[in-house]
Amino acid sequence: MLYSSFKIRELELKNRWIMLAMHTGYAEGNTIGEREFAFYEERAKGGAAAVTMVLAVNEAGSLKGMHQAQTLDIESFKTLVDRVHQHGCKLIVQLFHCGRNESKDDRGEKPLFAPSAVASPIFKAEPIEMDQAELVKTKEDFAFAGEICKKAGVDAIEISASAGYLLSEFLSPITNLRTDAYGYKINKGMNYPLEVIAFIREKVGDFPILLKVSGAQMVEGGYGLEDTISFCRMTSEHIDGITVTGGWHESPIEQISYHVAKGAYAPFAGALKKYIPLPVIACNRIHDGETAEKLLAENQCDFVGTARAFLSDPQFANRVEKKELFLPCQGCNRCISGVLKGQKLACGFNPEAGQEFFENQRRRIATRKEVVVIGGGPAGMEAAKKSAERGFVTTLITDEMTLGGQFNLAAKPPKKEGIGEYVKYMEKTLKELGVKFIYGQKCDEEFLMKKKPYFTVISTGSQPKRPQIEGVEKGILANDILSGRAPLPSQSQEGQIVIIGGGSVGLETAAYIKEREEERNIKIIDCKSSFGKDLGPLARPLISTLRGKGVQFMADTNADGLEDGKVLISIANQKFFLQADVIILATGSEPCEYAYLTMPLMDERLSYALVGDAERVGDGVDAIQSAYELFTRLYLA
Ligand SMILES: Cc1cc2nc3c(=O)[nH]c(=O)nc-3n(C[C@H](O)[C@H](O)[C@H](O)COP(=O)(O)O)c2cc1C
Repeated sequence: MLYSSFKIRELELKNRWIMLAMHTGYAEGNTIGEREFAFYEERAKGGAAAVTMVLAVNEAGSLKGMHQAQTLDIESFKTLVDRVHQHGCKLIVQLFHCGRNESKDDRGEKPLFAPSAVASPIFKAEPIEMDQAELVKTKEDFAFAGEICKKAGVDAIEISASAGYLLSEFLSPITNLRTDAYGYKINKGMNYPLEVIAFIREKVGDFPILLKVSGAQMVEGGYGLEDTISFCRMTSEHIDGITVTGGWHESPIEQISYHVAKGAYAPFAGALKKYIPLPVIACNRIHDGETAEKLLAENQCDFVGTARAFLSDPQFANRVEKKELFLPCQGCNRCISGVLKGQKLACGFNPEAGQEFFENQRRRIATRKEVVVIGGGPAGMEAAKKSAERGFVTTLITDEMTLGGQFNLAAKPPKKEGIGEYVKYMEKTLKELGVKFIYGQKCDEEFLMKKKPYFTVISTGSQPKRPQIEGVEKGILANDILSGRAPLPSQSQEGQIVIIGGGSVGLETAAYIKEREEERNIKIIDCKSSFGKDLGPLARPLISTLRGKGVQFMADTNADGLEDGKVLISIANQKFFLQADVIILATGSEPCEYAYLTMPLMDERLSYALVGDAERVGDGVDAIQSAYELFTRLYLA
């Protein structure tokens, strides 16, 4: 079903994959540029039935780096349409108004408008309540934006009324405190969005219009699914399809990270489909063919929308159709966190996303020059990929028997199995690129001196750091638990596990243990006052799951020494002994020794670079990025 065609109004879409709206931040000036053409064109080539671009309806509604309808150069808009059409793909343009959603830093002096002067809990800046003149102007701007899309040859427009953006703010009793005809108290705040949609229809006439809604606000006191159904029903005569996402950005419930199960919010689409006789597009974490087919077969939707599956792999739809491996979205949220902070759109695992135009400029070198990549972790794999793509004869040498390095451990905790899929994808890609692999051999001076490579990439990674405390040898390294090198002693079933270190490794090790042996008692201690800082916003769902499973957290707690069955701790200079039948160390990492490689290279005047943890200890995404960046420079050499 996934690869059968289907219509929205008279618009025929060749399959059921729609690449959803993503604010890219790539716009510079009023002309759509080569970077944007290449970004959408790659995804059009990749088999999407349609790709969606975001267009602000006016200046106040635009975010940093977003084009706006009032000033957009129409010729470049037409070029974008052509470039997408060349690949049998349609272009949908989302008519967007950010409402209250931009920080003061990114916005500068531009006014922020919303139904009422209620600040967003994320962006904090207090918006100005829209007066009558602003309401009329914005409605006209929406319609004007629709008209220029039609003029430029765009295939459909999508009206943004989801996630907390302007039109959805009217639908919420939290953000719409107005006392006029557009207030929440009258018709649940639907009057203004209904008027805007009807006006757009009046102006664009016979032209496909989609409406994007949140199934529910998913904020306490906010609107629910029944409200969304009645809103869509009331406007159904003016629209031709509905895109249905989960909640709002500020919802305390996870929306798009890897903590959300595949297709978890599709039942919202299913509910709308039941009551409204229009094509429905489901979304949120529909990132594989099986989930998509299942949702279509269950009649939850007519189309499957995904933003990030196409971000991480532009060839996503083609590869799913051919049942090939693809670069899977990890739900790591690097993309959305960056965009919400005003950065340009990027993908943690596919550093080429958004760089397509520049990548196309970087030449493949007609050369037999050799590059040796030492280490097969995330940095090593990315370095080998870019090296081979640039045309270097590339050898990857690792003392392990498989690729992946620390990603093989990162894939072990619950919901992280996608990382294993990424490693498989990279292995296949490197093989296709002709990279030579040497497994199970430590690279040494002899190897390097025999080869004398043109360039050496040292991606030897990091190793766990043991704290300098008495009795440290009594602790088991978290990595050894995750790798299975140190199985949890079974006699401690009733006893207590103490994990020292509350960063991502400590938390995920706790999750790994709890998934296997729910009844284990676990305490995580950390000298800092908060846990999971290196996970950013993704710490919250993990910590709350762990708490739900009875894991205890002790902040501001130093581990001063380890003894048999006990950890000596200090809290605010008071000393205590903590019962600890198993002690796990998750106390950070340090680069592995590499001087034995760099010294002979320097002596022989051979070029090299350190990437990933060897250069600076970080996470897998940092490692991939550092290897990628090296090859944006190396092609010039
Ligand atoms: C970086 C990023 C930017 C986004 N920008 C927009 C936007 O401007 N308008 C919109 O309606 N949705 C936006 N979304 C939401 C997506 O369109 C989509 O609904 C959501 O990501 C769920 O789909 P996915 O799980 O396949 O990514 C954005 C999502 C991401 C990840």
